Amino acid sequence: MRSIVLLRGAFALLFVHVIEALAAENTCTPLANGYEAIDDSPAINEAIGKCGDGGTIMLPSSEIYSIRSPIDFSQCKNCDFQIEGTLITARGQWDYWRNSVDSVFTIANATGVRIRSVTGKGVIDGNAIDFYARSSWDPHRGGRPFVHVTNGSSNIRVENLLFKNVMQRFFILEGNSTALRFNNLRLTTEQQNGIYAEFDTVGFEMGQVQDVDIENVAMDFRVRPNQNRAFGTCVAFDAGTKDVRVRDVTCRHAWGGALIMLGTIFPIIRSDAGASNILVSNFIFDGDHATGMQSWWTGQKMYVNNVTWDGVTIESGTPAEFFPCYASMRETSYIPRCYANVAVNATDVFFKDFRGRVGKMPTDPNWGRLNNLTLVEAHFEDWVNETTKMV
Ligand SMILES: *[C@@H]1O[C@H](CO)[C@@H](O)[C@H](O)[C@H]1NC(C)=O
Ligand SMILES: *[C@@H]1O[C@H](CO)[C@@H](O)[C@H](O)[C@H]1NC(C)=O
Ligand SMILES: *[C@@H]1O[C@H](CO)[C@@H](O)[C@H](O)[C@H]1NC(C)=O
Ligand SMILES: *[C@@H]1O[C@H](CO)[C@@H](O)[C@H](O)[C@H]1NC(C)=O
Ligand SMILES: *[C@@H]1O[C@H](CO)[C@@H](O)[C@H](O)[C@H]1NC(C)=O
Ligand SMILES: *[C@@H]1O[C@H](CO)[C@@H](O)[C@H](O)[C@H]1NC(C)=O
Ligand SMILES: *[C@@H]1O[C@H](CO)[C@@H](O)[C@H](O)[C@H]1NC(C)=O
Repeated sequence: MRSIVLLRGAFALLFVHVIEALAAENTCTPLANGYEAIDDSPAINEAIGKCGDGGTIMLPSSEIYSIRSPIDFSQCKNCDFQIEGTLITARGQWDYWRNSVDSVFTIANATGVRIRSVTGKGVIDGNAIDFYARSSWDPHRGGRPFVHVTNGSSNIRVENLLFKNVMQRFFILEGNSTALRFNNLRLTTEQQNGIYAEFDTVGFEMGQVQDVDIENVAMDFRVRPNQNRAFGTCVAFDAGTKDVRVRDVTCRHAWGGALIMLGTIFPIIRSDAGASNILVSNFIFDGDHATGMQSWWTGQKMYVNNVTWDGVTIESGTPAEFFPCYASMRETSYIPRCYANVAVNATDVFFKDFRGRVGKMPTDPNWGRLNNLTLVEAHFEDWVNETTKMV
């Protein structure tokens, strides 16, 4: 009898060891070479290949990973990608990132990707300050995403991280992706060159996506010390954006706040589906254009339905506008053609609970109407003009 009990104990012990071994097997810690000249992406991609199916890819706090090629999350299935240290893009490859690859973090046709820092100390550094300082600029539309979520990806979470100085876009979300959650993030740029177009930096740019939550995110875009211009856009909703909640978000030193921006993702999303079912709440803005619409006219009719900004604090900038003919370059033929031809159908658009430097609440029933092809049913409630505490 006694030996049987002992044996059972031994089996139990063995079983525990097997579970521990499995857990360890399911965590991959790729090697950080520690040299800017050596690309750490192959090792990271290998770790995703090995542990991406339900496991953890760990970039520990003591390590700096310098990368020169994309990280492909497509093989992740319920993977947990933990960045506790720093992941930095190597310098001097701006043409490569702009012309040869899709993005730095590519999440295409993936299900269940969690990118996060558990300690909150993880940093993703796009390292693009010398790109911002480039001496020439070709003003083509659209910008490359650092993180690209596309091709029907679902259940994607990005949490508890600092992203800084990415080349052009922090996140582009598109391609019929769903269930996208962004929580507790800081997105910053320093020393941007403010003489370039203001849409060159975008926090979240999305179109043809459904079910998106952006919560507790602080964005702060700074230009060079000798320039004094708001730059970039924090959140942009393009065609086909549906069921989005943005809450507890601050947007500072930005040209644009949380805006309907149809026609800005490039290549252009050819979809009649406009922007619908969007709620932006507890949004703090310091910049130029806080809420409403700033769209590019692509010739398509623009549809907007059920979009609400509720609880907005304006530290500086225009609180609400509805302008479907935005074009930074102000091409001479673009603006008059747009004014004459743009067609908009915007219904159930609400601007509620605005505080701070909001001035007078709009009362003009034709607010936002540019021509007789634009229908804008905007509702304003509870605006209180006040001096905000300056930060
Ligand atoms: C998305 O799918 C299309 C068509 O299959 C493909 O050409 C494209 O490369 C994919 N995008 C990414 C980022 O993988
Ligand atoms: C996603 O991958 C599956 C096969 O793994 C393929 O059948 C499907 O077309 C892909 N979807 C997109 C949008 O690329
Ligand atoms: C998204 O869905 C639309 C409409 O069904 C389709 O035309 C488009 O090709 C899809 N895009 C991707 C990347 O799957
Ligand atoms: C309007 O959009 C909000 C936010 O997505 C959603 O909760 C609400 O159900 C929508 N209302 C209608 C009538 O669709
Ligand atoms: C505008 O859209 C609403 C619903 O989104 C629709 O009921 C209405 O007929 C449309 N009006 C025009 C002039 O297209
Ligand atoms: C709103 O408040 C600001 C700052 O207190 C003040 O300068 C401005 O005159 C006010 N505007 C209106 C329309 O009351
Ligand atoms: C709309 O405006 C255009 C130009 O301003 C005018 O030619 C046209 O007759 C107007 N249409 C309607 C239905 O009022």
